[in-house]
Amino acid sequence: MTKETSVEMFRPAMHFSPAKHWINDPNGLVYYKGEYHLFYQYHPHSTIWGPMHWGHAVSKDLALWEELPIALYPDELGAIFSGSAVVDWNNTSGLQTGEEAVMVAIFTHHGEDNEKQSIAYSNDRGRTWVKYEGNPVLLNPDLKDFRDPKVFWHEETSKWIMSLACGDHIRFYASPNLKDWEYLSSFGETFGNHGGVWECPDLIHLKVEGEQAKKWVLIVSVNPGGPNGGSAIQYFTGDFDGTTFVTDQCESEEKWADWGRDFYAAVTWSGTEQPIWIGWMNNWQYANQTPTAEFRGSMSIPRSLSLENKEGLYTLIQKPILSDKMESDTIFNRQDGSFKNLTVKVPEQPFMVDMKLNSLSSFALSLKGEGGQLDIEFDGVSQELRVDRTKSGMIGFSEHFASLDTMPLESFEDVLLLVDKASVELFVNGGRSVMTESFYLAGSIEALEFKSFLKEPVEYKQIRIQSISL
Ligand code: FRU
Repeated sequence: MTKETSVEMFRPAMHFSPAKHWINDPNGLVYYKGEYHLFYQYHPHSTIWGPMHWGHAVSKDLALWEELPIALYPDELGAIFSGSAVVDWNNTSGLQTGEEAVMVAIFTHHGEDNEKQSIAYSNDRGRTWVKYEGNPVLLNPDLKDFRDPKVFWHEETSKWIMSLACGDHIRFYASPNLKDWEYLSSFGETFGNHGGVWECPDLIHLKVEGEQAKKWVLIVSVNPGGPNGGSAIQYFTGDFDGTTFVTDQCESEEKWADWGRDFYAAVTWSGTEQPIWIGWMNNWQYANQTPTAEFRGSMSIPRSLSLENKEGLYTLIQKPILSDKMESDTIFNRQDGSFKNLTVKVPEQPFMVDMKLNSLSSFALSLKGEGGQLDIEFDGVSQELRVDRTKSGMIGFSEHFASLDTMPLESFEDVLLLVDKASVELFVNGGRSVMTESFYLAGSIEALEFKSFLKEPVEYKQIRIQSISL
């Protein structure tokens, strides 16, 4: 939500969207002195994609965002594509001019058929930005796709490490000063999903739940190639020694961070104690056609990240970050019950539904409004969760939108649904399986209907529904 108020029907209430115009990927995520910076791919003249700028917003709590002036404009080297930002605490770049630590943004300059990496810096807590006069800092070695630099400080080698998306693989580079970059290694040509181009990598060191050790995870967006079509994010667990990333997965294995159609280009914040990421809640298959008016595009809820280790099999765990600023009112709360058919009236979105289940149940949860319904089906027989958008109101804006999207599941122990004006994020089994989907009901959701698929009622430990206000 921005501080601006808007009457737009699909304007998210608990997710960031720009007051006006087009956004896509989150960029330059960096935390500095109590502020989370969110830059993003922005086209300030239109609600469709065009020459990219970096828009900018800040938040103290990851919930309430204030939009700031555009940070980076296209120039003679090209448009400003995706990238990252860091705080250069030790002034390795020599770009610091005053008392504040210098923030450095590392981004892709996208010129006519030529992508290269450049930097810009800010000495006033991200308020104004100067492009480095020696740009570009990393030239293109003759690759069509050579973009989306994500940089972090690697303690062990005292170097900045950059991950870069290069079509069908990720390249790693190192630098002592963010200006001079040296090629280290490549990963991925024969690994994971290659249904489309690789984009927006992020190499992160994640805590393994219940263990002292941490583990490296390489995040890679791919478009198309997603498990339900179009854009999606895969990840590889493994090891990084300062030079090379080696995965513990076999070549054909695909691990998806989010099985939904609308979670793309997510990367983590630099400088937070806990890894936190945010994604663009959209899909390139229909992103330019979604039926919003003044703005187009929004971000997901920020999510904290960790890993679970089950006998050497590592799974990403994502938990939504809900700020204390979000007030919740309990609308419905029942323990140890069962239903064959249960209807609960709900107030306008946003709200959240928290269910704890006894077993692999089979039921549908329908979010119903006058303008249509979104059906979420928990199928204990085929062991999958499905989101059915085929009756979800406005679906005709793109032939790719109406869909029945599936996520495999071995159990349903609990599920948390965050429902905003035009999106649902499903966190199943403590965030081990996640699905993000947008939808556009012409009108709000009025009731939730829980309906058993089978003759027997569905038993539950808890169903709680809470409205959310900011
Ligand atoms: C991902 C992406 C990036 C690129 C940017 C352009 O959605 O295609 O690879 O930098 O968007 O806006």
